[in-house]
Amino acid sequence: MIGKCLFPVAGYGTRFLPATKSMPKEMLPIVNKPLVQYGVEEAIEAGMTNCAFVTGRGKRAIADHFDTSYELEHQIAGSTKEQHLEGIREVMERGVFTTVRQRSMRGLGHAILTGKPLIGSEPFGVVLSDDLCLNSEGAGVLSQMTSLYEEFRCSIVAIQKVSPAEISHYGAVAGPTERDGLIRVSQMVEKPTPEQAPSNFAVIGRYILTPDIFDILRDMPPDDRGEIQLTDALKVQASEGRVLAYEFEGIRFDCGQVPGFVEATQYVFEHHYGQN
Ligand code: UTP
Repeated sequence: MIGKCLFPVAGYGTRFLPATKSMPKEMLPIVNKPLVQYGVEEAIEAGMTNCAFVTGRGKRAIADHFDTSYELEHQIAGSTKEQHLEGIREVMERGVFTTVRQRSMRGLGHAILTGKPLIGSEPFGVVLSDDLCLNSEGAGVLSQMTSLYEEFRCSIVAIQKVSPAEISHYGAVAGPTERDGLIRVSQMVEKPTPEQAPSNFAVIGRYILTPDIFDILRDMPPDDRGEIQLTDALKVQASEGRVLAYEFEGIRFDCGQVPGFVEATQYVFEHHYGQN
């Protein structure tokens, strides 16, 4: 059973400026719920009730969101408005929330390494909450991935097919098919040109990682922009056959950019608003 999930939320969110000048990108609402809450709900559904945030400066609102807002709750106690807090109260009851600060933005790999004191030496989930994943047909994406972990006991990345033009925004993976919808990763290229891409399978923001990833990240040299890349560490595991790529069931919106954010808002408003 995987009980912990890491949320790297230290990034600047420059693609949403000026909205993100003093507000974390992860607190942008999809209709009436902040992005990060969708990710936390998905983690809790998968049994990862221990939610660890790797935060940075200006990100206090995230920790506050998962804490009691005493004055507000006192004010609306007993009124019909209280029903709007039911969802977040349930999340707060079921989850335990911890934070650690990433003092300088040195990449996703560095953010994950910064989270090690909150994770320890067990397998864990990772959610990049600007990828909003929904599966109205059944289990959430992390839940699907934990079932696979039980079977294969290795790192797992979630993948989605994208167009050749889009692949350069993602990490692309390829390798032999383990079974339908599951690839044993042998090639991984970060942000390839369409010509360099080994496939159109893009890695999206859901991972299950085995804890040896921390040692690999610690020894990983930074890239030419001074960032430690998670992809480089995953390549080390993949070279030993220890990474699976899973084409998940459900839909995903790239809420890290404006068009995806707007699509997600429309979708959630039409399909989910009023249900929670
Ligand atoms: P992004 O590449 O989306 O960067 O990071 P960003 O800063 O959030 O957004 P833009 O590109 O400026 O608009 C992917 C994920 O990794 C986290 C981010 O918070 C995001 O969830 N991250 C990235 C960190 O926590 N620390 C880092 O040093 C880099």
